[in-house]
Amino acid sequence: MNKEIVKLPKIDLHRHLDGSVRVETILDIAKKHNFSLPTNDVNELKKYVQVSPQCRSLSEFLKTFDFFYNFLKFPDVLERIAYESCQDAVEKENVKYLELRFAPPLQTNPEIRFSEEDVLKSILNGIKYAQRDFKIKVGVILCLYRYYNITEEQNLKTLKLAEKYFSSGEVVGIDLAGDESKYSVLLYKKFFDYAKMIGIPITCHAGEAADAKEVLNAIKLGAKRIGHGIHIYEDEEIMKIVKNEGLTLEICLTSNLQTQVVDSIEKHPIKKYYDYGIKITINTDDPSVSNIDLNHELNLAYDVFKFNLDDIKKIILNALESAFISDKEKRNLLEEFNKEFYN
Ligand code: ADE
Ligand code: ZN
Repeated sequence: MNKEIVKLPKIDLHRHLDGSVRVETILDIAKKHNFSLPTNDVNELKKYVQVSPQCRSLSEFLKTFDFFYNFLKFPDVLERIAYESCQDAVEKENVKYLELRFAPPLQTNPEIRFSEEDVLKSILNGIKYAQRDFKIKVGVILCLYRYYNITEEQNLKTLKLAEKYFSSGEVVGIDLAGDESKYSVLLYKKFFDYAKMIGIPITCHAGEAADAKEVLNAIKLGAKRIGHGIHIYEDEEIMKIVKNEGLTLEICLTSNLQTQVVDSIEKHPIKKYYDYGIKITINTDDPSVSNIDLNHELNLAYDVFKFNLDDIKKIILNALESAFISDKEKRNLLEEFNKEFYN
């Protein structure tokens, strides 16, 4: 691991809260809430929480989450995982600005009347305490979700929540996540239209497990950032649009390898995009499921694609420029980053 990379101040724009849960915390939660686990050994438990080495697709990757969704349905648990996820970002990765995303309906619990808004409030509490205790700023992105058991009504509730909490500054944007191999972004047009109308910034998982056209569809629907977008190399016209419109790609290297949307890390188009002039960023996606962190991902870029330290700094500053925060907040962060980059 390159020590200079570890020391750099960082930004992660693409991190799923539910993909950032400490394995130890799952053990602890199970004890407190009287859940039985297949094992009480942390190392054994990792096999259930982390993606299997045999994972062959995004659909299989997403199945990993089913194991621990059962536990993430209580206010204390959500507050805790939000807090810990920020703490890990600060203490292990030197992340200064983090955008955390999740889909509230995946964490509701009718048995205790725990609603989508309760989910959001619990998570916002955890983030509030983390921002009090650590030097980090966190923005929340709410995910509309492509999934067989998420209904239109639930996605609409997510959007309404985003609207309500965007006006108070506690939510900074919306996303469309879930299984792109099964559901086109076009199915969600009306949600995007509404999001555009209320002026909430949009990012969208696209061109991850589907082809470049899905990225174009997402752009046409109003996305300013694209989660992954790794298939755009298939279509030079779309690459041109992404570059010329100054759109941002949220690249997540290890995740792409694990979902097998690239055959090998060497075949990942990240360097091609960078050299072409596309605004790329490097992110974690699901650090605990993928068993990585941002240091690991930046180091991968350094080792495999021969990005040098200046390139890495440029990629971090791309993230700063693309963050869903005000220009004033960007200027303040930029000053802080420049000081740390160049002294
Ligand atoms: N949710 C968590 N990880 C995801 C990914 N890589 N793509 C879509 N949805 C996700
Ligand atoms: Zn993602």
